[in-house]
Formats: sequence, structure tokens, C-alpha cells
Amino acid sequence: MEPCYSSGIWEGDIEMSLQAILPFTRSLLQEVVDRGDTVVDATMGNGLDTLFLATLVGKDGTVFAYDIQEEAIQKTKERLIREGQLTQAQLLLKGHETMEEELSQLTKPISAAMFNLGYRPGGDKEIVTYPKSTIQALHILSRYLKKDGIITLVVYSGHEQGKAEKTALLDEIRAWDQSLYSILKYEFINQLNHPPFLIAIQKK
Ligand SMILES: C[S@@+](CC[C@H](N)C(=O)[O-])C[C@H]1O[C@@H](n2cnc3c(N)ncnc32)[C@H](O)[C@@H]1O
Repeated sequence: MEPCYSSGIWEGDIEMSLQAILPFTRSLLQEVVDRGDTVVDATMGNGLDTLFLATLVGKDGTVFAYDIQEEAIQKTKERLIREGQLTQAQLLLKGHETMEEELSQLTKPISAAMFNLGYRPGGDKEIVTYPKSTIQALHILSRYLKKDGIITLVVYSGHEQGKAEKTALLDEIRAWDQSLYSILKYEFINQLNHPPFLIAIQKK
């Protein structure tokens, strides 16, 4: 039976649940990234997102992945080698605010970029992302993003610097022109202890 809406309730075979933040983030990216594309992991960390993106773009694609910690590069490299996905990844030991150096060399726009803000799980909790460089990187990405391309940011506001980053980031992107970008905030509002939330920016 086709699902239909009548008398204020859905009738039919609809089975759905609200996706958690990370699966929802990935499902958005899967919609816009094709094999052979160029994409960015702005915060490499332990390389889970780099691996996800490398798998999406395949051997003919490119992932530019950034981190300021040598250990992030090592962990990510080991992960990608284990999974046979290293060849399409460029692991760069530098801040994402410098990504113009790579992106300005491209001959086609990028289709997606991911940020996972805060500190590296299992790493030094003092080494965190800061709003100034995050926002600088967002401005660079916005210029190199294709139409319908998506930038995702998973924001953790539980730690001290995270609160300031959340406020600065939301203040910045709320002001982006709605005729140029659709910007979504996806957040569970009844969870305790500052759960992470997602910001997704799509270029129109
Ligand atoms: C939450 S972790 C990322 C987790 C990662 N996506 C994963 O899959 O494991 C945030 C990372 O951002 C890095 N970072 C902080 N400032 C940065 C900057 N300016 N440019 C690039 N990376 C930065 C930190 O070193 C840390 O490893």
C-alpha cells in the first residue's frame, strides 16, 4: 500500500527513525560525492572521515586531508593503508586555513568538505580547532565548492573552547546569503551533556 497522509496521521508502510549525527552527515555527503571527485577533510584526526571520503571518491578521485598534528597523519596513513585507500589521499601536515594553496591548483570544483571540530579522540585535548581558522577555511571552501556541493561541520560544544567556537561559527554562517547557500542545523535538543550537532552548507 502506498503511504498516504489522512486525518492527521501517516498510514501505510513507513519505517523511519531519526538518524544519529554521524550517519546523517555521511548520508548527505553520499548524495553529492561521485567517484573521481575531489573533496576535502579539513580535520583529519584519526582518519575516519578521510577513509570515508577516500572510499566515496575511489582511486580516480582525490581527498585533501589536513591536520596540524604529526600523529594524526600517522594514524590516518596506517588506517588508509590497512583499507587499501591511500593512493587517492593527500595527507597534509598543515592548517586547513592554508588550503587555498592546494585548491587554487584544481581544474574543477570540489564536491564536498568535512569538518569534525574539537580535539582528536585519544589525543591531546589541548590541541583543538579554533573559530578563526575554521571560518577562514570555510570562506576558501565556499569559493571552490561546486553548485549543490556540501560542507559539513560536526560541532562539539562540551569543552571550554567548543562553546566559543559554536557561538562564533553560528554567528558567522547565519549571515551567509540565503540566495547563495542553504544552511541546515541538525541537532537533538533533548540530549544531556552538550551532544554534537551538525551544520551542513549547500551551495545553490
Ligand atoms: C575532532 S578531531 C577530527 C576527527 C577526525 N575527523 C576523525 O575522523 O578522527 C579534530 C582535529 O582537528 C585538528 N585541527 C585543529 N586545528 C586545525 C587546523 N587549523 N587545521 C587542520 N586541523 C586542525 C586537530 O589536531 C584534531 O586532530
